[in-house]
Amino acid sequence: MVLNGPNLNRLGTREPDIYGASTFADLVSACQNAAASHGMSADVRQTNDEAELIGWLHEASDASTPVILNPAAFTHYSYAVRDACAMLTAPLIEVHISNPAAREEFRHTSVVAGVATGTITGFGLDSYVLAFAALARR
Ligand code: DQA
Repeated sequence: MVLNGPNLNRLGTREPDIYGASTFADLVSACQNAAASHGMSADVRQTNDEAELIGWLHEASDASTPVILNPAAFTHYSYAVRDACAMLTAPLIEVHISNPAAREEFRHTSVVAGVATGTITGFGLDSYVLAFAALARR
């Protein structure tokens, strides 16, 4: 499962100087190609709704499905998303398109990182591709 939080449906037009020109459809293709190259499949989802994201995390937890998660702005303040991540029973890789550590101070904190298996940031859509490689090696 590849789960994406708020505003990531706006990729392509959203702050292209930071997030690049790739669209959410490009993100889906990149994940599907990366998954296929490792003999996996990718169920890629995006929501602007915290409750929906938490529901998907519960689904992943119940099914022991590995998760690649870009929590977007929820990264920085959602203890509810963190608590749902803490219940996951398979690997969780936190990904970011930009490098939050190189941006505004409020982005330097991830409340999710402490319950993730690992975090990959700053490589654009390749952050997701690298996450599939990491999952495959586990
Ligand atoms: C982001 C970084 C977050 O700080 C931001 O709120 C996002 C996108 C990224 O992928 O770089 O929405 O998660």
